[in-house]
Amino acid sequence: MNKNLIWHPFTQQKNSVPELKIIRGDGAYLFDADGNKYIDLISSWWVNLHGHAHPEIARAIYNQALKLEHVIFAGFTHEPAIRLCEELSSLIPDRLTKFFFSDNGSTSVEVALKMAYQFWYNQGDREKTLFLSFDGSYHGDTLGAMSVSNSGFHDHFKKLQFQSIKIKFPHTWIGDTEIEEKEEVVLRELVEVLDEYSNKISALILEPLVQGAGGMRMCRVSFLNRVLSAIKERGIFIIFDEVMTGFYRTGTLFALDQILIKPDFLCISKGITGGFLPLALTITTDIIYNAFLGDDFFRAFAHGHSYTANPIACAAAIKSIEILKNSICNIININSAHLQGLDILKQSERISGLRVCGTIAAFEVHLLHANLNAELKKRFLSKGMLLRPLGNTVYLLPPYCITQEEILNSYRDILEVVNGIQNE
Ligand SMILES: Cc1ncc(COP(=O)(O)O)c(C=O)c1O
Repeated sequence: MNKNLIWHPFTQQKNSVPELKIIRGDGAYLFDADGNKYIDLISSWWVNLHGHAHPEIARAIYNQALKLEHVIFAGFTHEPAIRLCEELSSLIPDRLTKFFFSDNGSTSVEVALKMAYQFWYNQGDREKTLFLSFDGSYHGDTLGAMSVSNSGFHDHFKKLQFQSIKIKFPHTWIGDTEIEEKEEVVLRELVEVLDEYSNKISALILEPLVQGAGGMRMCRVSFLNRVLSAIKERGIFIIFDEVMTGFYRTGTLFALDQILIKPDFLCISKGITGGFLPLALTITTDIIYNAFLGDDFFRAFAHGHSYTANPIACAAAIKSIEILKNSICNIININSAHLQGLDILKQSERISGLRVCGTIAAFEVHLLHANLNAELKKRFLSKGMLLRPLGNTVYLLPPYCITQEEILNSYRDILEVVNGIQNE
């Protein structure tokens, strides 16, 4: 058998430990080929909402596959896509009226960036070629998404990327006494940037409330309200990348529900199908949509993917949203279990930066170790926990079927792991 047949994502294959072969999932747990059980504390790259192999979603997928598995989405439509958009439309701000499908978080961002750019192009404004984004942001791995990201993953590709201006992100944690000061510095910097470039900026893109891959960094709602009103005043579009924060990760259906100023574009993916199938949406306004109407194809949005609006994925999404409506109590319980769990971690001098937003909790581990990240990952796994620290940042972002007891036990195990590593 060729052991190196598969090239895994975000993996340095040279020194990587052999991939764990997972054969089954059930609720919050995954099972490997040797019969070991792991609690999935990161929802498998943040996609799983209701637990693995959820029977109701599996059934919805099966039933849809028997009826219509796929059809070209240009010139044709179908009931699952229509029903999904109607459902979502009743849950999001009224101004977000037009739904554009794609297949993953990166493409949902790519679509928003291209739409924002082409909106101005179609108006005859060829100068608005810049985008604004935050330091530490991650919006995906396609070229456009990389151009507005700044999480350190994509530096090799700088010369291929288009220009975007980065502003500092004043991230905060429980007991942070300097946050006001940090926010003021950023707001002053933002005004300077806007004074110089606002005529050239097409849109601001951000992960509202929590930056995911950049280190689960959290900011205050009041800061975002101030940033967004400065942006809106200048007629610059606002893109909310809720690929990670969507579907109650931040405690509300979308982070936008907590923020006063609503976006012109909303990008969603990951949890949309409950973690079963790839699907994404870029949702925008009538104003933007209308700018693409005209008598020739040139004004239209020339973008699409083979599996756009796959009916099976749409059926999974409809079922997932239905289940989600009955999960609110669990979501509140996860938040309070996180707060209790972080209290347990407070005992350790090796842990700092404790923070929580909705169902997401994170903290930093401080140890002298040549490869702390790999060591933590390995030790967590050997304790039956699937956790994937970002550098020295450990975070928990569990599926909503997890119990408070399972969360608290996990925090106790995490503390044991952290205390068990020797400083080198
Ligand atoms: C905020 C955010 N945007 C975009 C993406 C890219 O999504 P995908 O991996 O589905 O392309 C991610 C992925 O982690 C993300 O967290």
